[in-house]
Amino acid sequence: MQCRHFLNLLDLSATELKQLIQRAMKLKQLQNTGKLYQPLQGKTLAMVFEKSSTRTRVSFETAMIQLGGGALFLSPRDTQLGRGEPIEDTARVLSSMVDMIMVRTFAHQVIQAFAKYSSVPVINGLTDQCHPCQLLADMQTYFECRGEIQGKTVAWIGDGNNMCHSYINAAKQFDFQLNIAAPKGFYPNQALLKANATHAQLLKNPLEAAANADLIVTDVWASMGQEDEAKKRQQAFADYQVNAEVMAKAKSDALFMHCLPAHRGEEVSADVIDGQQSVVWQEAENRLHSQKALIEFLFSVSV
Ligand code: CP
Ligand code: NVA
Repeated sequence: MQCRHFLNLLDLSATELKQLIQRAMKLKQLQNTGKLYQPLQGKTLAMVFEKSSTRTRVSFETAMIQLGGGALFLSPRDTQLGRGEPIEDTARVLSSMVDMIMVRTFAHQVIQAFAKYSSVPVINGLTDQCHPCQLLADMQTYFECRGEIQGKTVAWIGDGNNMCHSYINAAKQFDFQLNIAAPKGFYPNQALLKANATHAQLLKNPLEAAANADLIVTDVWASMGQEDEAKKRQQAFADYQVNAEVMAKAKSDALFMHCLPAHRGEEVSADVIDGQQSVVWQEAENRLHSQKALIEFLFSVSV
C-alpha cells in the first residue's frame, strides 16, 4: 500500500492543510444536521497510547464511529509493547490487520519507526517533539471565529515544547507571524526556529510577545513525562502566565487558546481561560471534526 502519514504539519502541503480545514467545517455542519455519513464502514483505527489522554482518545474514537468504522484503544499496560515487543514488529503486525494507526508516545523517533514499518497511514497523536493534530483544531477554530489567519500575529507564551514546535510549523504552513516568549532554558528547538526565522521569533517577555496579537496561546508548564520537574518549572515560569495584563497588550478582539488540560493560576489565570476571549471549548470540540477530515484525507490519498 502506498500511504501518507501525518507525523507533523509539514507532511501535508499548505494547500492540503487549508482544504482539510474547510472540509472539517463541512463535516461539522453535516454532523450537526444529524445526517449519517459513514464512508468508513468496516475500517479500523488502532490507537496506541503510551501517555494519558482525554481529548485525543475520545475525538479519534468518536470520529471513527461517526464515519462508520471502529477504533481500538491499545495501551502498553495491556499489550506486548509494555513487555518489550519491538516497535517495528508491532507496527508490522498491527498494520496487517487495521487500516490506520494513531500513536501517542514520548520520543518522536518511536513514531518515525512505527511509520517506517507500517503498511497503513500513521497519525501522530502527540510526541515530545510535536502535536500536529491539535494545530488542525486550533486553525479550524481561528478560521471559524475570525476567518483567514494568514498575515495575522500569534503569541506563544510559555514552554518551548511540543505545542510550541507545532505552532512554529503552523506559522510557516498558514503564513502567520509567531511571537514566542519563553524563559531562558525553555526555548523551542533552535534549529526549527532558525529554519522558520521568516515566520517565528523569540521575544523578550510575554508583554512584548503579546503586543498587537490576534491570538494568544499557551500550554502547561510541565508536559507529560516532566512531572518530576514541576516544582522547578513553576519557579522558572512564574512570570509567564497569560493573564488580563498580557491579554490587554493584544488586539481588543484577540482570541485565547489552550490545547488543554489547563492549570488555572499557573500558565493561565481563571479569568482569561473562562473569559470572553477564550475559545478553548470550541477548540477542544474541533479535535473531532478536524480529525475526521484528516482520517478521510489519509484514506483518500492512500492506495
Ligand atoms: N489536547 C490534548 O491533546 O488533550 P489530551 O491530552 O486530553 O488528549
Ligand atoms: N504539552 C502537553 C500537551 C498536552 C496535550 C504535553 O505534552 O503534556
